[in-house]
Parts: sequence; C-alpha cells; structure tokens
Amino acid sequence: MFYYKHIDIDNSISEEMKHWGLNNIQTSDDPVVKLDVEKFKNDCPLFLEWCKNNDIEVGWLVGIKVNAHNEQAATKAPHTDYRPVDQNYALNFPVQNCEDTHTEMYKHITGKEIIIEDDTVAGGMKSYKVFSPDSTFEEVARFTLNKPVMFDINQPHKVINNTDKTRLALSIRFIKNPYKLV
Ligand SMILES: [Fe+2]
Repeated sequence: MFYYKHIDIDNSISEEMKHWGLNNIQTSDDPVVKLDVEKFKNDCPLFLEWCKNNDIEVGWLVGIKVNAHNEQAATKAPHTDYRPVDQNYALNFPVQNCEDTHTEMYKHITGKEIIIEDDTVAGGMKSYKVFSPDSTFEEVARFTLNKPVMFDINQPHKVINNTDKTRLALSIRFIKNPYKLV
C-alpha cells in the first residue's frame, strides 16, 4: 500500500515554491483554499520545467494553513480529500514552520464516513470526506514535511501542529497521478 514518499527535488525549485507560497497562500484562517493555478504557472517556471521533464501536468493547487496548536476546528480531526482514483496523489511543499510538525495517516476502523461537498477546494467535485465523532482510527504512517512529499490524500490524514506558530504548505494536485515518481 502506498502512503507517502519524500521526493528529491532540486533546492532551487523548493525555494521557488516556498517564495510563491509565502506570497500567495490565504491570509484567512481557512485551512484549505484553492489558489490561482494560472498565476502559479506563470510565476514558477522552475517547477513547471520539472513537471514537464517528469511528464506530469499540474491540475490545481491549494494552500494549507494549520494554525498553532491546530486552532481551527477543521484541522482537529482526520479527513480524506476524496479524489477520483487517478487524482489522489498530492505533492506537498513546506512553506513555513513545517519542521516541528508532522502529518499522521490512518486506517478508519469504526464509525461512518461523511462526504462534504465544497466547490471552493477542488473544482466543484465532491472534495473531501470526514468521519463521525465516534470513529476510531489506527495510525499507519507519519511524515514530517521537511522536504517535498508525495502522498495519497484518499487515506485519512491529519496535520499535527503542537507549536506556537502557524504552519503553511503548498499542495500540488495533478491531472493524473505521477506514478513514476513513487
Ligand atoms: Fe488533506
């Protein structure tokens, strides 16, 4: 089962992504916001070149903001991004204060799945899934976003930010899963 993989990408590309993220990620406290993909493509030639060389195409991207101590309610519980099966890999880049946080991935053991329709996130499709409050989970993996990470966003997951600082990340989604990279 694929959960996640750290991806080796030239540091100049990671810096380009970090810089773009700092200038374009939502200033609101919304944890997940779809960003302007055309602006992104115009502003980030190094990443676009890397995608071309790896035969992958950017579909959309979101800014992920997890406030200190998981302050926003939506960040306190596991979710999945509930993508079609060939669009369920995300490539996440650290932007700010990621090093002392981590992402946990889970298997949903008991409880109900609840589909949330939210066309602000992923182009108007059913975009994520949460779980009834009585749900139980088994942790199956965890990673720190200290460099780019590809992971399966259809697996329940949650960012843990126990620090006093806001954590920012950029999450790139593709037209088709980049299977060759994992
Ligand atoms: Fe997610």
